[in-house]
Amino acid sequence: MQTLRDLPALRAAVDALRSDGRPIALVPTMGALHDGHMALVEEARRHGRHVVVSIFVNPRQFGPNEDLDAYPRREAKDAQMLQAAGADILWMPSVDVMYPAGFATNISVSGISEGLDGAARPGHFDGVATVVTKLFNQVRPDVAIFGEKDYQQLAVIRRFVADLDLPIEIIGLPTQRAEDGLALSSRNAYLTDEDRKKALALPRALGEAKRQIERGDPVDGALARAIAMLSAHGFGPIDYVTLCDAATLEPMHRLDRPARLLGAAKIGTTRLIDNIAVDPA
Ligand code: PAJ
Repeated sequence: MQTLRDLPALRAAVDALRSDGRPIALVPTMGALHDGHMALVEEARRHGRHVVVSIFVNPRQFGPNEDLDAYPRREAKDAQMLQAAGADILWMPSVDVMYPAGFATNISVSGISEGLDGAARPGHFDGVATVVTKLFNQVRPDVAIFGEKDYQQLAVIRRFVADLDLPIEIIGLPTQRAEDGLALSSRNAYLTDEDRKKALALPRALGEAKRQIERGDPVDGALARAIAMLSAHGFGPIDYVTLCDAATLEPMHRLDRPARLLGAAKIGTTRLIDNIAVDPA
């Protein structure tokens, strides 16, 4: 595996990989890798693809009062894990390489990026769309792989890839979870032992609400009970627990088409998100 930090070296290395005709898969990450990320890398390797993994903690997707400085950074261990998993290139640009002086462009996706995390974290999805567009242009992959853990992010990426005619296949993979059901996340590293136990209420509340809605209970009541359960377990503030159209993310109050139940809330100082499919009978 080659670890590269400047654009000419990346371009040359990707061109060399491409010369054998096998497709290139890109897995964008912010590092502090866990089994959720590694499942994406495993998918990337399928069908004989070459694998490029990026690690870039993207300042433009963090709000002024968010955890940019505290975000876990574990370069050496990440590189070891990726080498062992068979990645070909680790792309690790600095902030100056990604955003040189004078950088002035913003990719903004309206509609689908405005509710949920877009409302709770103003500017977040502009930052994501801008950096992912740049990563796509830097690496020029045939395929890019993302997790459903960040369900709205995946939907935003699918939207701008279609809108901008980017010739890249987007693959979304199911959320990888710890044995007890908590979604794996780099931010779980912030949790105290006590908060780690309380955090389980998030997947449980979503799972309960899913069962209730799928058996025909009124949607709004089920969502209110999920919010009450999160509060009772010490979550707060709760940004949202919402049932949305699985494709457009428009809010739904009746289960009349495939839906997604999404939740975001803080436990202690850590903001967690999770989501689950909800399907009409
Ligand atoms: P990061 O949070 O590091 O996540 C990188 C990728 O791993 C994303 O596609 C995310 O959905 C996926 N992922 C995280 N936890 C997962 C889990 N438990 N199961 C399956 N997949 C999981 O998402 C970002 O970075 C950034 O916003 C990025 C897309 C890299 C742009 O900066």
